[in-house]
Parts: sequence; structure tokens; C-alpha cells
Amino acid sequence: MTFIKRVIHKAYLGMMAAVIRFMPPDVFTLFAGEGSSRQLVGHIAGQGTSRLLIVSDKPLVELGLIQPLVARCDELGVACAVFDGVLPDPTFSIVEAGLEVFRQHRADAVLAIGGGSSIDTGKTIAAAATNGFAPRKLEGYFKVKHPPVPLYAIPTTSGTGSEVTKGAVIADSDTHLKAYVADPKMVPVAVALDPALLTGLPPAITAATGMDALTHAIEAYISVWCNPRCERYALAAIKMIFTHLPRAYQNGGDLEAREQMSLAACYAGLAINDTNIGNVHALAHQLGRVYGIPHGLANAVVLPYVLEETFDACASRLANLARVLGFSESGSDGEAARAFIAEVVALNQRLNIAAGLDKLAAADVEDLASAAAREGSRLPVPVLVPREGFASVLQRLLVVV
Ligand SMILES: [Fe+2]
Repeated sequence: MTFIKRVIHKAYLGMMAAVIRFMPPDVFTLFAGEGSSRQLVGHIAGQGTSRLLIVSDKPLVELGLIQPLVARCDELGVACAVFDGVLPDPTFSIVEAGLEVFRQHRADAVLAIGGGSSIDTGKTIAAAATNGFAPRKLEGYFKVKHPPVPLYAIPTTSGTGSEVTKGAVIADSDTHLKAYVADPKMVPVAVALDPALLTGLPPAITAATGMDALTHAIEAYISVWCNPRCERYALAAIKMIFTHLPRAYQNGGDLEAREQMSLAACYAGLAINDTNIGNVHALAHQLGRVYGIPHGLANAVVLPYVLEETFDACASRLANLARVLGFSESGSDGEAARAFIAEVVALNQRLNIAAGLDKLAAADVEDLASAAAREGSRLPVPVLVPREGFASVLQRLLVVV
């Protein structure tokens, strides 16, 4: 990046930080705890909804998670249609198929139930339903002119925070390149965090999605756009994840740990609403795109290496975290920051997350690093990592396999 571009980039980051600081907080109704999904259905009926589209995926329908909520809707006089065509990394074609079901059912609200893919699909259907143009036209920032139909969400993973974030990630149906649809109007109006729906989540997915939430919270906390509101959410999420993720991983039926993790993912999502993501995601996205490595797992593996690579720029912030979490009682910022990174590494080990990537090919390193540097240069990161920096991280990931 040239000197002039760097100055423009810094001025843009400073201006946006000031704008975000004075943006109103995201307002939504939260139901939490065992049975809260039924409470949310009661709330939806109480809002005058008569015809509801449920957006989900086939595995959740086959697990029997959706039917009790449909039955409860019937009891309350809300006619449901279920669109279960959501797949991982949903495309605009999937959104269009869901929108067609929405129209045929003459729905007046959307309830998304599932992981980030189902909630992102539900958000985009709800926005396309009121804006009168093809869903792909929503790509970008602030393209949602009219408020979406009332949108509700029940997450069945604790990671993306999509249930409270302003954006949705939808892939192009032909190229499978991911597009970002972002608008404050896309935040669901009410959410249920029901730990009883999370007990069947396999340990590996619990670990990966939980580390995604941790990455959101850390990247928000070290972002140059982090403000006091974001800092409170990020700190709460980081504390809760270090305590409860190992418990949820060890015992999927631990309802307290599941509930705390769902709240933590939610808080981490609220934190990135103010800051966006950072260098860790910039690299992890490339690993997902080229090798299909699950998003949370890619974040988990590269997180400690990227923190090391950007150490000078974020040491004081990581040191704060180490002290608040009790990972470092004394010593310099540098020592405390290293203690924090060591705890991230230890957490990965407790979750049986590998320290390297066996799918990573040495021949791909330069292209992956260039793409990560391009993505990182558009984000409010504590320091811009050049291509060489990301290449260095990838080389270390090769060595430890
Ligand atoms: Fe993420």
C-alpha cells in the first residue's frame, strides 16, 4: 500500500470510528434459557403474525427440532410453511427458492432456525420480500431501503452471532464467491437462545463454532473501531467462552454451559456489529474458499499465529485481556499479551483443534497470502498485514503439521 493510500485509509478508519460511536445500539427482544424457543413462538403470535415462514435445513427437520414449534404455532393460530432447503454456504438461488415459498404461503413474518447459514438466508428472504427486487441486488451496504418483514431467529449453534448481526453472507450461485449483505434493518426483532436445542451439537462443531465466537470477540476488542459499548460485549464474551466452551465440548448436555455459550456468541456478534472482523478472518476466509475448511476451525487454527504476527500493534490490548481474565498477575504488557496467546493455544489443545493445517499446500501460500492482505486492507484492523506477513503465518502452519 502506498503512503497516500495509507493516509486515506487511516482517515477513513478515524471518521468511521466516530460515526459508529454515535450509532444507536441494536434493539431486539431476547428470550434465553430452556424453553425460550416456545416463548419466542408465543411472542410471534402475540405480535399479530398469522402466516409464518420457517427457514431451516433438512437435518434439523429430520432431528425433530422444528415440528414441536410448528405444532405450537398451530395451537396459537399461526399458519406455518417450512422451507428446509438451506445448505452450508447458502447461495442467492437458495434465497430465491425460499422467497418463492414465502410468496406462495403469503407469509407475513420469517422465523430462521439453525446455524448461521439458515439465519443469513432468513434475513435475506425477509429483506427481499419487502424491497421488490432480486435478492442479489441486496449485495453491499445499506441496500435494504424498506424494513424487512418481521424477522425472528433461533440459533442452533453458538458461533456466528448472525442472530444479532447486521449482515448476511450469501454466495453467488455460479461462482460461489461470497457476497456480503449488510444493513442495520436486518437485525432480527426477537431472538431465542434455547440451550435445549444445542445439546445434540457434536463436540467438533461445538469447538469450531465456539472458537469462531471467540475470534469475533477478540477481533472486535483489538479493532481500531472498538468503542466502550463494543468493549463491554467483547470482554463479556471472551470471559464466558474461556469458562464455558471446554464444558460444552466435554459434555454437550451441560445446559448451563450451552446457555452461557449461546449468550457469549450473541455478545460477540453485538461487538462485531460495531467493528467488523479483522486479520484472522481475512486469512481464514481464504482457507475456507480454497480448501473448504469450516469457518470456525480455520479461525481457531490461525488465531494464535495472527496474534503473534500482529503482536506489536495489539500487545497492550491483549495484555488488558490477560489481566482481566486472570491469566497474568504481573509483568510487562508484552509478557501479559504472550500469556493471553498461550491461553488461546491451550484452549485449542483442550478442544483437540490441530496446530497446523494438513490441507494447506506450499504452492498456494503466495496466492492465499495476497488474497488475505487484500481483504485485511478493507477492515478496521489494528495493523495492516502485508502479503509477506500472511505468507509467514502460512509457512508456520505448514511446519507444524
Ligand atoms: Fe466468523
